[in-house]
Amino acid sequence: MQTDLVSTILPGLLSSPKYVPQWYTYDKLGSELFDRVTNENPDYHLYRVEMSLLKEHTDKIIDNFDETSVFAELGAGNSSKMHRLIEAILKKEGSLRFIPIDISKEYVEESAKNLIKLFPLLDVQPFVGHYLDGMVHVKSLQGSKLLVFLGSSFSSIPEAQMLPFLETIRDAIEERIGKTIDLEEGEVIHINSPGKTSIKWDWKQFEKLAKAAGLTTEQIWTDQDNLFTLGLMKADLQ
Ligand SMILES: C[S@@+](CC[C@H](N)C(=O)[O-])C[C@H]1O[C@@H](n2cnc3c(N)ncnc32)[C@H](O)[C@@H]1O
Repeated sequence: MQTDLVSTILPGLLSSPKYVPQWYTYDKLGSELFDRVTNENPDYHLYRVEMSLLKEHTDKIIDNFDETSVFAELGAGNSSKMHRLIEAILKKEGSLRFIPIDISKEYVEESAKNLIKLFPLLDVQPFVGHYLDGMVHVKSLQGSKLLVFLGSSFSSIPEAQMLPFLETIRDAIEERIGKTIDLEEGEVIHINSPGKTSIKWDWKQFEKLAKAAGLTTEQIWTDQDNLFTLGLMKADLQ
């Protein structure tokens, strides 16, 4: 077992009762078992309800977006719930990048190959790793983003981590650079925000702030009218 893996699962194995993190149960076999327990089990209400909602509202879901450049699924598994959405977006936009994010390497890679066969126009780029790493990856991508998290997987996020988890999702899907800015002819663009340009500090004010940041004055030099200060500062020893 790798050291980082040991340190991740060891606390749980040393607790009473013993436990392993939920993601640890997902390898190829774990994912296949999950599918059998959910998709193939007529009594698994959640799967059926979610599928029928997605089926019924596909058009309304995609009507909410002008365009979708990146479509990511957290904990994608076999992505079977995504087929209708992918089909509808491809019909509307002609192309789409799909990022299935999942810890279950073999399974997500195999699913990606099946998706390519089903949707030759789909650009499938699986990301193998944890949810949080997947979101860092999504964040780094340009364009409008749609991120789905299905299968009631929110239930596996500890309550205390829900807010930061949602904040990470929000941060990952925020659309970056790529924005269109309208400019009137001759419109002035300020350097720095208006009214906040060219702020003057006297040395005492500046020194107070610098001290809070862990910098102390070594030496200063001023002009003969004492209007300008050149300062040499050093980092405080911790
Ligand atoms: C509850 S299943 C949902 C599968 C599918 N999206 C669905 O709705 O039926 C959770 C999926 O998330 C993956 N998974 C679980 N924990 C994860 C984690 N921390 N990071 C990345 N993937 C994870 C599992 O491998 C599994 O495929």
